[in-house]
Formats: sequence, C-alpha cells, structure tokens
Amino acid sequence: MKTKIVLLGPPGSGKGTQGEKLSEEFGYVRMSTGDMLREAVRKGTDLGIKAKGYMDSGALVPNDLIINLMKEKIASLAEGTGIIFDGFPRTVEQADALGEQIDVDLALNLDVDDEELVKRLTMRRSCPQCNAVYHLLYNKPQNERFCDKCGSVLYQRDDDKEDTVRNRLKVYRENTFPLIDYYDKKGKLVTIQGVGDINEIFDKVKKAIQ
Ligand code: AP5
Repeated sequence: MKTKIVLLGPPGSGKGTQGEKLSEEFGYVRMSTGDMLREAVRKGTDLGIKAKGYMDSGALVPNDLIINLMKEKIASLAEGTGIIFDGFPRTVEQADALGEQIDVDLALNLDVDDEELVKRLTMRRSCPQCNAVYHLLYNKPQNERFCDKCGSVLYQRDDDKEDTVRNRLKVYRENTFPLIDYYDKKGKLVTIQGVGDINEIFDKVKKAIQ
C-alpha cells in the first residue's frame, strides 16, 4: 500500500472528504495545510496573522511560510508513517521542497468541473473542532447546525462565498494545475473523476492506493 500520498484537485473537489475517509479506514495521518492555517488564524499565532489576508481573498499564502511549516511537521513524524497531504503542495516550488524531504509515491488527482465546485463550496459547512466537512444537500449532518462526529457548532468558511470561490479557482488554475503534469512526468499520477456518490469515489481511491 502507498504510504506518501498527495491529494491534488481544485478547491471543493473532495480532498478533505476523501482524505478523512482514508485516515479513518487506514490510519494515515492527514496533513491539511488549510486546516493548519485556519487553526493558526483562530489562535492568533504569528503564522495566522501573516496568513489571514491571503486566505480571506482566496490567494495562496507565500511559499516560504508553507514550506517551513510543513518541513517541521513532516520531520516530527516517525519514519514509515503513512501520510496524506491535503492542499500541499500547491506550487512547483512547494512540490520540489516536499520531494527533497520525502519520496511521494502517489499523486491522486480529483477531477471536478467548475460549476459543480461552486455549488459544493457555497453550501459546505465545516467543523471548527474536528475539521469534518458536510454539504447541506449532498452530505448532510443529522442536524444542520451541529457536527455528527464531535457535536461542535458548524460554520461556513469565510472563503466559501461565491466571489472568493471563483478567485480560488483562478488561483488554482494558475499555480496548482501545473502539478498534474509535474507528477505525471514522474509516473506518480492517478486521476479519478470526483463527481458522483462519495462512497463510490472512495472505492476508486482505495484501488488507487493499493
Ligand atoms: P484549503 O483548506 O486547502 O482549501 P482548498 O484546497 O480550496 O480545498 P477545500 O478545503 O475548499 O476543498 P476540498 O477539496 O478539501 O473539498 P471538500 O472535501 O471539503 O485552503 C484554504 C486556503 O488556505 C487557500 O485558499 C490558501 O489561502 C491557503 N492554503 C492552504 N494550503 C496552502 C498551500 N499549500 N500553499 C499556499 N496557501 C495555502 O468538499 C467540498 C464540499 O463538497 C463539502 O461540502 C463536501 O461535503 C462536498 N462533497 C465532497 N465530495 C462530494 C461529492 N462526491 N459529491 C457531492 N458533494 C461532495
């Protein structure tokens, strides 16, 4: 089974949803730079203060901040740990830095068209405590206000408003889309259609990690 997996795909393609399922079923450590940055913003750390403006507008946080953060986090894990990278790398510079530290053995690309992504993100609800994600139509919590897993009050991310979502899609195309070719050239890329039933997509994801 693959142990160092990068999840690629535009905002809203299901990286968090599928990454969480992989972590629950197989015990991978899911490293989501988005979750780490949101926690830093909530706690008001130096990183959070620097990152907030970029995140609110849908821009990328500067490479040096992200690369330093991830270098430290990866170094703190025992060798051989299965890791799912969710939202990292997002630029060729980040991918090069990751490749210097570990060997990625799979880049799993979730392919979803833009209009579906906008629908997903504008109706997403997130848990601030355990980072679970829901959708008010496609993946409903039992009660619209509370997280099924930990009971916390769900919220709508500031960057899930339509204008910001469209900017995030543009930023994705300019900066992150080239990573599909980057990992393809290394023979590491598998693309999965990310539209349809979440569990059916997960079945395809499970085949890809074998
Ligand atoms: P981040 O948190 O990484 O956001 P993202 O990449 O834009 O991805 P999302 O979390 O929005 O979507 P997802 O693909 O995880 O989809 P999800 O599973 O939630 O980054 C946020 C910001 O932080 C960035 O804009 C940037 O500023 C900064 N940042 C983070 N990492 C960075 C980095 N490396 N470098 C620089 N800056 C960085 O699903 C979405 C919705 O769809 C949910 O409601 C879900 O329930 C639903 N859904 C999922 N699958 C399906 C399905 N099959 N059918 C229907 N609905 C579905």
